[in-house]
Amino acid sequence: MRSLLRQIAIGIPIAIGLLQSASTQQTAPGASPGYGPPPGFVAPPEPKPDESNGVRAMTQPGNNAPFWRAVRRSGEIQGVTSLPGAEQGTLIQRFVQYPGSRFTTAGEAWREARNRLLIPYGGSLLVIVAGAIALHYRRYAPLGGKYPDTGRQIERFTPFERSAHWTNAIAFVILAVSGLVMAFGKFFFVPVVGRTLFGWLSYVLKTAHNFVGPLFAVSLAVVFVTYLRDEMPRMGDLEWIRRGGGLFGGEEVASHRFNAGEKLLFWASMVLGFIAIGAGLVLDKVLPGLDYLRADMQVAHMVHAAAAILMMGLLFLHIYLGTIGMKGAYRGMRTGYVDETWAHEHHDLWLQDIKAGKIPAQRSSATAPAVPAAGART
Ligand code: HEM
Repeated sequence: MRSLLRQIAIGIPIAIGLLQSASTQQTAPGASPGYGPPPGFVAPPEPKPDESNGVRAMTQPGNNAPFWRAVRRSGEIQGVTSLPGAEQGTLIQRFVQYPGSRFTTAGEAWREARNRLLIPYGGSLLVIVAGAIALHYRRYAPLGGKYPDTGRQIERFTPFERSAHWTNAIAFVILAVSGLVMAFGKFFFVPVVGRTLFGWLSYVLKTAHNFVGPLFAVSLAVVFVTYLRDEMPRMGDLEWIRRGGGLFGGEEVASHRFNAGEKLLFWASMVLGFIAIGAGLVLDKVLPGLDYLRADMQVAHMVHAAAAILMMGLLFLHIYLGTIGMKGAYRGMRTGYVDETWAHEHHDLWLQDIKAGKIPAQRSSATAPAVPAAGART
């Protein structure tokens, strides 16, 4: 042990001495060839943080940091390119923060807003609405149908009103199904049909979505104008809202042609519908005079998806009450006619106006369909 310590004590000064002599030899002028720079060599200046990639190639060959820094900043200061078109000089968009995202490059922020906010919260909302409908159906449905039909028919919707409604409804269902598959389909379909088939399925549905969107836009505008007059707020609507319309048991609160619940749904779905349509037409790139930059498309997508999901939630309620939730409602929209008893149960003030001659019981030249067998009201 002692001899080992002695060897170390002697070895360390010798090693230091050797190192010192080596470094003196390297830096000495006129040192032997093979060490240090060649004679006459002038060292390039130290790399500077703000130099261009061309200069950096000389100060530090192989280091392309200025190039990649410029790529990263190309959202604020566009790069130079010979390609025509808008935004060609931007490889990576500027830093932003969208709802639900971090402060990061816009493309990534958009991805995060979609995956962390729209998909989980939008999906949960739709599941909650479906659950609420299931609970209502179990407890209260179908509403109405307590009294026998009289056989006296009233025209509730003219053929034009029905065509407008069903064109819009069919377009909506195509958009809703294709939109839901695009947003949530990969969670359900990929494990079952695989990626390739799901790729084709979503491609077909996306194409259908793009073409049906403008049809929905036109038909929604027609529905808006057609139904507007009877969807305006009236005296008695607040009373209907205060008493929950009687939708949760008891007698339904008397209303005019459309009740306050239908009116709220009408206005909310029109506002959301037109927002979704405006943003959808941007995504379809059919509005003239726009540049359709990436940020425009990202914002349009988020607005479109949020409005469409909220609208779907509302229309699920509408479709439920228009089919299995209320007896006789669907028949009214399919044939155009309802029985006097139905009108009395759901829209008594409207029936009173018809009986008083203020509203004609028959507004179009169409003839009423045969009276359905007793109890066949659906
Ligand atoms: C499969 C889808 C749909 C079904 C089954 C359906 C069913 C019905 C039914 C049965 C009625 C008559 C209600 C009554 O007599 O008071 C009705 C009315 C109406 N529907 Fe739809 N509908 C659907 C989609 C849509 C869509 C997408 C819209 C557009 C936003 C819409 C807008 C309307 C409007 C404005 C009325 C007039 C009364 C009200 O405001 O509720 N419907 N629907």
